[in-house]
Amino acid sequence: MTRTSKRQAGYRFRVLLSAMLALAVPLACNAIAGPTGSPATATETGYSLVPLPASLQPAKGSFRISSTTSLLAEGDAASAVARQFADYLRTTRKLEVPLSRPGNTAKGGVIEFVIDAGIGGGPESYRLDVNPHHVRVAAAEPRGLFYGAVTLWQLATANPEVPITIPALRIEDAPRFGWRGLMLDSARHFQSVGEIKQLLDAMALHKLNTFHWHLTDDQGWRIEIKRYPKLTEDGGCRIPAGDGGIGADGKPRPYCGFYTQDQVREVVRYAAERHITIVPEINAPGHAQAAVSAYPELGVTGKQLPVLNEWGVNTTLFNVEESTFQFLENVLAEVVELFPGTYVHVGGDEAVKDQWKASARVQERMRELGVKDEAGMQSYLVKRMEKYLVAHKRRLIGWDEILEGGLPEEATVMSWRGIEGGVTAAGLGHDVVMAPSSELYLDYLQTDSPNEPPGRPALIPLQQVYAFEPIPAALPADQRAHILGLQANVWTEHMRSYGRVQHAIFPRIAALAETAWSPRQKKDWAGFRARLAAQLQRYRLLGIDYAQTPFEVRSVVSDQPQGKALVTLSNPLGYPQMRYTIDGGAPSARSAAYKAPFEVKLPAELRAAVFVQGLPLVPAQARKLDVSSLLSRSDEELAMCTGALTLRLEDDGPLEGERALFNVDIFNPCWLWKAAGLDGIARIEVRAGRMPYYFQLAHDEPARKFKPARTPHGELEIRAGCAGAVLASVPLPAATDADGFVILGAMLKPSPGKQDLCVFFTGDTRPTMWVLDRLTLQPR
Ligand code: ACM
Repeated sequence: MTRTSKRQAGYRFRVLLSAMLALAVPLACNAIAGPTGSPATATETGYSLVPLPASLQPAKGSFRISSTTSLLAEGDAASAVARQFADYLRTTRKLEVPLSRPGNTAKGGVIEFVIDAGIGGGPESYRLDVNPHHVRVAAAEPRGLFYGAVTLWQLATANPEVPITIPALRIEDAPRFGWRGLMLDSARHFQSVGEIKQLLDAMALHKLNTFHWHLTDDQGWRIEIKRYPKLTEDGGCRIPAGDGGIGADGKPRPYCGFYTQDQVREVVRYAAERHITIVPEINAPGHAQAAVSAYPELGVTGKQLPVLNEWGVNTTLFNVEESTFQFLENVLAEVVELFPGTYVHVGGDEAVKDQWKASARVQERMRELGVKDEAGMQSYLVKRMEKYLVAHKRRLIGWDEILEGGLPEEATVMSWRGIEGGVTAAGLGHDVVMAPSSELYLDYLQTDSPNEPPGRPALIPLQQVYAFEPIPAALPADQRAHILGLQANVWTEHMRSYGRVQHAIFPRIAALAETAWSPRQKKDWAGFRARLAAQLQRYRLLGIDYAQTPFEVRSVVSDQPQGKALVTLSNPLGYPQMRYTIDGGAPSARSAAYKAPFEVKLPAELRAAVFVQGLPLVPAQARKLDVSSLLSRSDEELAMCTGALTLRLEDDGPLEGERALFNVDIFNPCWLWKAAGLDGIARIEVRAGRMPYYFQLAHDEPARKFKPARTPHGELEIRAGCAGAVLASVPLPAATDADGFVILGAMLKPSPGKQDLCVFFTGDTRPTMWVLDRLTLQPR
């Protein structure tokens, strides 16, 4: 366990209220054709709507919203939407616009919300007409009217000027997909009701309509079930691994949380008001350890197990006794009472069958039930859950593993291991939601910046989320209607705080929303990137802690002869304009514009930022460049030797305050400084920490490699290439220093020229793991 990290001092991903005001001015950019055909026009891009509407026709003039404007609505449904619009305007633009009775004509003009059965295009469609004297939002149904209000609110927040000016136009709009989803894992880490509500608000303002709530897993059962109180009393708490699980008094310090049924009802109501349906997930037969911990009779071994405090794929399954099926049905009975939506998610993923294979009793039950293998057993259980749900007028949805052993008749498949499961299910005539981990898993990090929070460093950048197309090209036309839509999933193993949840979601949710809502041929990356500036402005108005890393400038610095360095700048989203200084000053619109790699004389202090319309997108970060900084690399700046399963992990301590972060390949903790210049280098210093090895890897565990140790606690070893000569070897201590780190130094065998420095720790270190924090070369 390591307590602090020097580089954590500079770590941040909080929103800085940076000056981006000019960005919100409608951008008249040239749309660049995307891969799917005719993109949005420059004019459409200029309105900065996200997602883009299906059709937008500009008109002459504009409508001003001010405190003398009034809102008109007839009937409860339209009045409710008008009030929601007024609320959003109040919170984000600090403007009070009163709701008036029909017939009242305010001198500041009127915004009218109308339920109009004549508006076609489906229940979520709407029409928005803006002229200089009047705004009319009309839809056949409240859902559509709400989306019309969201579009109007977006127009009112694209530009921070007062009074608010809405360009005259007509928008006719309807979504491309009916399932526009986001999944949040509240089991691995828990979010408060207030945080869930903030997320629901943000979803609604992106026109997303499905919130998949992952409520049960090995690490916690988070929904109160009256009939089984221990599910939350016991199954709602775990003792975190390592130092995070020990209080200052030396006693276990549990991590707990669950939603009472009253809170669930409150969240369901809040979502419904925003036209979001909640799909609850009760996971079976795997991801069951919290339930089995609370009620061991549900498990296969009968052993008392703790609620799991490790991440990965765990082998604990529910057993297949009739009493366990009854338990699952009793849980579903309370779930369907709480959640009025059509779908209930029953999980089905990653149910490694080892326990069932090894259990004579499960094998006996399989014979009794006439199922031929363990996949068939899972299918039997899922079909049983479907029967219950169908009898209660609900539909079952599960992860794509429910295909194995045979799908229940009416099941919908959520395709996460790529899109293949979805294609197979559609071919079998089943509905599908596309949620491939390769494109739509938001626990994957979005940039390789050292400022990223913990997560999975196999990147899913914004561009990749944006480019995802849910209807596979090869899918026969008659099966396409089975693709209900798409969903991004937020797994929270690495998200201890809601701030991290927000970092993962925003701005990638905007890319998801555009694919989910807008016509395919309208999508174009460059236009979306331009509209994002206004979207960030909206996030700030809403108090959303969005990721800054996609908007930061990255620098690569290499040393040059005569005390100089070569600096190469880039930014993750490819914004064309970057400006920089080398004297430590904040870059301004008059600072040097980056054109190509440039030389600086050392020492220097580099600051660079992306500029849009004369202002930095996010504040520039300082980077000191001197001879010693060029001889030092943090773990984020090093490559992984093999990269079999790289994670960006957070330390297990301290209890309060920031914790160190480490990039580490947990199958082969080994770091590589490629082509390190060793001329004149005499010594090497490694700062290392230690953390728990808290992973369940099921059948992948043998892939974890350990190198033999020669001394009692193993060695730090540095080689010229991982299979090359040993350049230094230092015995490891039994424990770290009081700050949780050790600094290990060694003379380096003379090795002139450039070498790939390979750094690793020998020995089987479980249940802990050494991790590299910094590598520094010291000249003679
Ligand atoms: C999953 O990611 N295990 C659905």
